[in-house]
Parts: sequence; C-alpha cells; structure tokens
Amino acid sequence: MSRPVRARRSELATPASNEHMFAKAAAAGADLVFLDLEDACAPAEREAARPKAARALRELDWGATTRAIRMNGVDTRWAHGDVIEVVTAAREALDVIIVPKVRAARDVWWVDVLLTQLEETLGLGKRIGLEVLIEEVEGLQEVDAIARSSDRLEALIFGAGDFSASQGARVDTNFDPRADYPGDLWHYARSRIVVAARAAGIEAVDAPYPNYRDPDGYRTACERAGAMGFAGKWAIHPSQVEPANDVFAPTPEEIAHARRTVAAYRDAEAAGRGATGLDGMLVDAAHLRHAETVRTKAALLGRDGGEVR
Ligand code: GLV
Ligand code: MG
Repeated sequence: MSRPVRARRSELATPASNEHMFAKAAAAGADLVFLDLEDACAPAEREAARPKAARALRELDWGATTRAIRMNGVDTRWAHGDVIEVVTAAREALDVIIVPKVRAARDVWWVDVLLTQLEETLGLGKRIGLEVLIEEVEGLQEVDAIARSSDRLEALIFGAGDFSASQGARVDTNFDPRADYPGDLWHYARSRIVVAARAAGIEAVDAPYPNYRDPDGYRTACERAGAMGFAGKWAIHPSQVEPANDVFAPTPEEIAHARRTVAAYRDAEAAGRGATGLDGMLVDAAHLRHAETVRTKAALLGRDGGEVR
C-alpha cells in the first residue's frame, strides 16, 4: 500500500493537557502538529488529555497541517487507551500517531495491528500513518528493522533528549558537549537514522532543540540536519516553525538551478553524452538525482515550475 506524501519540515509539539495552547498550535503554520500525550503531559493528566486532544483534532481549523498525537510508549499502561480512545473519538481527524521510545520492530507491529482492528471496527475512511522516535540505544541498534517494520511508517524521528539519557551521555553536567566534544556528539545516531530511513523509502526528522530563546542556534541546527538529508525538525515552540519551514524548503535559486541541471543533462543525453557542464560544474547522473530531489520537494510545497521540456 502506498504511503501518503506529506511535508514535514516542521513538527510542532503541544502538550495535550493544555487546551489553551491548541488554537495557537493549529494556526502556527507547521507542516505537522502533534498533541502530546507523553512526556509533555504530567502522568496524572495523561488520561484526561485524550478527549481534549480528540476534540481539538476534530473541531479546530488545521488548514494544511497534518494532525498527529504522540501516544505513550508501548511498554506503559497508557499505550492501549491512548490509541483506542483517541482514534475512536477523532476518527478521520487524526492523520498520524507518533510512537515514542521504540526499541524493536515488534513495538511498531503492536500499534499497527491495533490500528488495523480499529479502522475496520470503526469503518474509518482512511489509514492512520505512523512516525516513530528513535531515542533509546536499543532502538538505534535495531533501526534498520524498525524502519522497514510497517507500511504505515512514514518517518523516523531522532529524540536526542531521551537518547542522551539512554546512552548515558553527560549533557546535564558541567561538561559542555558543544565546547568540549570535538564534533557533533550525535553525528553517529543522526547518520544511522537518516540512512536507515532513506534506505526504507521513508523520511527522517531531526530532534527537538530545547533552547527556544536561541533562534540562531535553532536555524543552524536546521541547516546541519538539512545538509545530512533530514526532511525537517521538531519545533517545541511556535516561534521555531517559521525557521524550520524556511530552511527545509528549497530556495527559488535551488529550484531554478535544479531545472537548469535537468535541462543540461537532457541535452547531453540527447547528444549521446552522459555528462556535461553547467556554470563550470560537472553535471552527471548523480547531479540529476540531486536535482530531482530538489524538484520533488518543491513540487510537494507547490513551488515547482512544472515539467522541464
Ligand atoms: C524527544 O522526545 C526527545 O526525547 O528528545
Ligand atoms: Mg523523548
């Protein structure tokens, strides 16, 4: 079964217990908003948050935003109720469920089977998609199997907060990983996640950036993630949506260059050559693939100029 194609440059977190934040989240312009039943909700609030989330999904105007929830992990007592109650009440108003702390493919199967039964019982007119958080060391070790575990799965998300705890990294001490560690402490995890996702034909989304008063740092983090192949990044505050949407979208110059690259390659091909030059740079089949990636992203955002001859 084919997966829906969605933009996910920005994925905005909103605690499902805090109803007063919902309208602002719905209007934030994020590609995806998830109402969080997990760690942004106090444990005592998690059950009461389910009907609040379902009502908001049904009743607010979300525009083009993908509507999601983050359920609790499959090893918690909330997982089953999160899925059953929210899907039953929200029905087609829920597009995606984010599953946290996935450690193995079987965690995804559990949610997949439950959803299949619910969709049939409720007679839902559409399939609910999944995204999963890789934020446990076991999950990273199993990431290839997890990425291929379900045809509902649309993206892997790197959860750097829990991952650092799971790995035992010293980020909450006087040790400053940015100053004292040569390189990106999370490069290995990020690389594995993005490669596993792309190899499985799905997308990778980068981690939350906790300092919401540091827009420059956030933008740099978006740029680095985009350079590695991540499709987007989490936003933990509405102010992070606009920079993520901006950085993860191809610029008009990139789109124009991609069109010229495709045209140059086609001309070379028609003349029986496999490579040519454009502005003093080589254009071969690999550049054609880069250009097609840019054009696919642009088309998804409605910014592509259409066919190249
Ligand atoms: C997200 O859930 C994280 O742990 O970073
Ligand atoms: Mg987490």
